[in-house]
Parts: sequence; structure tokens; C-alpha cells
Amino acid sequence: MTGNELRKLYVSYYKERGHELTAAGSLVPENDASVLYTTAGMQPLTPYLLGEEHPLGKRLVNVQRCVRTGDIEEVGDDYHLTVFEMLGNWSLGDYFKKEAISMSYEFLTDKIGIPPSKLAVTVYEGNDIVPYDSEAADTWIDLGINKNQIYYYGDDENWWGPTGETGPCGPDSEMFYINDTPDCSENCGPACSCGKYVELGNNVFMTYYKDKEGNLTELEQKNIDVGLGFERLLILANHFQNVYETDLFLPLIKRLEQLSGFKYDAYNEKSFRIICDHVRASVFILADSQKIVPTNSEQGYILRRIIRRTIRMMFKLGIEENIMLELAEKVIEIYCEAYPEIQSCKNHVFEELEKEYIKFTKTLQGGLKMANKYLDELNIGECLSGEKAFKLYDTYGFPIEFTLELAQEKDVFVDVEGFRLKFEEHQKKSRSGAAEKFKGGLADHNSNTIRLHTATHLLNSALREILGNHVYQKGSHINSERLRFDFSFDRKLSKEEISQVENIVNNAIQEEIDVDRMEMSLDDAKKIGAIGAFESKYEDTINVYKIPGYSLEICGGPHVSNTSELGFFKIIKEQSSSSGVRRIKAILDLDKK
Ligand code: SER
Repeated sequence: MTGNELRKLYVSYYKERGHELTAAGSLVPENDASVLYTTAGMQPLTPYLLGEEHPLGKRLVNVQRCVRTGDIEEVGDDYHLTVFEMLGNWSLGDYFKKEAISMSYEFLTDKIGIPPSKLAVTVYEGNDIVPYDSEAADTWIDLGINKNQIYYYGDDENWWGPTGETGPCGPDSEMFYINDTPDCSENCGPACSCGKYVELGNNVFMTYYKDKEGNLTELEQKNIDVGLGFERLLILANHFQNVYETDLFLPLIKRLEQLSGFKYDAYNEKSFRIICDHVRASVFILADSQKIVPTNSEQGYILRRIIRRTIRMMFKLGIEENIMLELAEKVIEIYCEAYPEIQSCKNHVFEELEKEYIKFTKTLQGGLKMANKYLDELNIGECLSGEKAFKLYDTYGFPIEFTLELAQEKDVFVDVEGFRLKFEEHQKKSRSGAAEKFKGGLADHNSNTIRLHTATHLLNSALREILGNHVYQKGSHINSERLRFDFSFDRKLSKEEISQVENIVNNAIQEEIDVDRMEMSLDDAKKIGAIGAFESKYEDTINVYKIPGYSLEICGGPHVSNTSELGFFKIIKEQSSSSGVRRIKAILDLDKK
């Protein structure tokens, strides 16, 4: 069975049972800021699950592409994908549990051909407020599912939603395929991650609403929300072992073999799978109506990571050309029948993949230079400190895998454990957010604050250029929304001066300049004219950040690697801070270029 056939089979099965086909939503939820990507087919239907009347009626069916970012790390195994398609059917206060479960069961056994003995199901065991779901259990038993194939779990496993903080939710009953592998332990079951039980889908009984305080109220309208994993059903319908054997991936794997000159064998398997999955996901995201492009925040950041991981995998295989475009072309060929819109976005997809490839390889070159420098300082058999390995990663965007490979070539070691500790420390710091105050006024350490930090440097030099070199920084504070910059000056800035300053910063952004970091002594920094708080105590060597043509400043970092990451700079306020000190608040608009 082909993918196109399965989509049609599913939709027609439910159409025959009174469902109307509703258009799928974007990969980025349009009215829901609580999640970055659409994670389930029900998301665009939220208002209707809560009682609003749907123009197509009470029974709906569709196919929705979803992204679950938590799954990305699993990609490379037999089943997990960055983007998967969810086959969904809904009853908006129409039929309920018995009919929903019976249809799911019939579809899985009759249409997909899964023997009932290979199915396991889970049922909600209840809590203090919501009762045990005897109706779901009885329905499964009546259909012929053996009692020992039914598992009972509580809120952790058998409660679904809401997708964000608030929204529709309810108890559910999940369906699993039982693999032929032995149980991993006495307690092995569908909730176990050993791989024996593969989740196929979920019947959610959307009968509750969760509010901001966490309270549940019963919905008047009792809904059904069923989601099935399209690719997983396709594997089973064809008696395949994994998704890469299906017609969704096989032609892509073959194309990668041609382009790379390597075979898809046990040795290359994982890299091949990741490359194919990630290129496919990148095409879907880039072709989406929400026009996501690689950036350093939110959806764009996830896209950037996916593309960059693809490039890393290509390098790992030894592919030095950008073959992503040829692969993307294949993805478009595979999916253009089901999703014709991706065909019309082809040029945009190609352009963005090419741009990101160039950007990332540039970043890597800078990192490579620094990594070589660090490693050449070591004698054979010595070890690169975790701190330096982390610096390569954090400041230069140089992946640890690359550092390890390079070290191996030079017969030196890397303190991976030290790197891991630094990495975790960094993660913790980013998470603890606002409470932390870093040198340079960074309130926390995420991509937004990093961008605003670089913008602060540009602002600092722009002010000096327009107002004179007697202007210097008196303070700075940055959070993820805005920067605040205090500087010595004794009068209000004119409108004209403000727009001149903005123009300088925006010119620097438009010129897409690489931000360089240099290490040197304080004396040398002074000699080359770097500005910064000279009076404060610095260690022996200090960092100087250079944005050629614009800024040279002593600073602990971190900064973006290229000014193009900053979007559009705007001053939103200019006011007095204290006597002889003015204060500017400014933002970066990432949507405007
Ligand atoms: N919303 C449920 C899920 O994502 C079923 O569609 O599993």
C-alpha cells in the first residue's frame, strides 16, 4: 500500500460513516501561542470541541501534519519522525466511546490487517474526581480484545491534554502494536519504552476543560478525538519493519545513496535516516503557510537546528557539497500529490536551504580555526579541557562531535565529562532566567537576550558616532523583550538623532556582518581602541568583540555570530535616567527586515 492509498482509504472509511473532510491546519498553530508547532490534529478544532458549531457538522475527518519536538532526538530509530501525519476523526458531541472505539478497531484490523492478537490497549483507571473508564474496557472486550491485552493506567498515561496550559482534555484509550520481542521485565507493558509496544493511536474522550488554576470542569458537549499515526499504520499495512522502507522514504534514501556515493548499510543507517527525516521536515516547515525561516528563536530556531543537524550528518558521512536541494526536490516529488502547495514553494525552500548551508559552514570555519588553535597547543595524548570544548560550542557554534573528530585526528583527547558539566550548567543558567545577572547586563541567556546584547554594542557605537565620543556606557540591562541602555549625555535626543542612531544599527544588520571574538590582554585591547569598562577588573586575557566597521568592545559575551540575526532595530523610549545620564529602551523586531 502506498502512502497516498492509505490516506485515501482512511478518509473514505470515515466519509462512508458520515464524516466530512475538514482542511488540515498549518504546521504552526494559528490561534495558540502555547505551543510552537501543531502537535495534534485536534488543535485547529479547539473552539468546536468547546461547543462552537462547525460548518461541516458534527463528524469530521482529516490528515494533519504534526511536529513533536520531544521526538526529534529519537529520529533514526524505526518509527520516530520529526514531522508525522496524524489521521484524525472527531465526533463533536455526536457518537461516543462505543462507536469511536469500534471504528478504530475495525479500521486497524480489517483495513490495515493487524491481527487482533497483536493489539494492546490501555484504559483510564480513574482518580478521585474522574471515574474508572469501564465503558472503554467493556467495549474492547466485546470487540474481542483479550483481558490480558488491556492495561489500566492513571493520569500519567491515560489522560490527554490540554495541549497548552488550558483547553479541552479528557481520559483516553490508546492502541498499541505488540512487537515480537520478549518483555523487557515483569512490568513490561504499553507504558514501557523498551520498544516492544508501538503506539498506533489514541481515542480521547474530550469531556473536560482545564482552566488556568488547573481545575477541571465537565464539558456539556461530549466529544471524541481520535488520532492515528499514519506512517506507523503504513509500515504495518505493508509488513515492513520501519518507516524508511515505505514509499514515503525509500526513494529519498535511494537518492541519498546516488548523491553521496555511499550505501545505506548498517554503518551509515542512522546518518542516512536522520538526513532524510530532517530534509523532509525542513521542506514541510519551509513550505508552510506561516512562512517560518531559520532564525534564533522559537519555530525558526527549531528549523535551524534541524537543518544544521542535517549538515552535520552530511559532513559526518563525508559529503562536502550541499546536496540538501536535490534531496528536497525528491521530498517534493514524493509529497506533491498529497500536499500540492509544497510544489509552489519550491524556490523558497531551495533558497532558504542554500542560505542556511552557507551561514552554517561559515560559522563552522570560524570554529574550526579556533578548535585547531586550541588543539595544536596540546601535546599528543593530552586532553582539551571541558571549558575550552564548551567555549568552542557556545561561542563559535562548533559542535562537540566535530571537536572530538578533530581531536582524534590529532591524537589528543577531549574532556567530554567536563564539557557535559559546563553544558548542563549553561542549560541551568538559561532556565533559571531572570534571577541571574551576568556581566554586561544580561538578565538571562537565551537567543533573544543574546541578540539584544549584540544590538546593545551597535547602539553604543552608533550613539558615539552621532553624539560624540564623550558618550559612554553607564549601564545596561537586557531581558528577552528589550534592551535598556544608560549612557552619559545631558540633554534629550532629537527625533532626528534617534532615527540616525536607528539607521546606523539597521545598516549594520542589513550588511550581514560576522561578529568576531578575539582574546587579548587589556593593554592590547586599549591599543586597538576597544571601548569598555576599563576601570573594572579583568582577567589576564579578555574578550574583545568586533563588528567590523561598527563596533569594537571589551565584553564577556555571548553574541550572535552574524548581525543578520538581529531583525529590525527600533528605539521605543528615550528618557532621563539620572543627572547627566540618559536611558534608551529598544527592541528587535524579528519579523521585519
Ligand atoms: N489528540 C490526541 C493525540 O494527539 C488524539 O488525536 O494523541
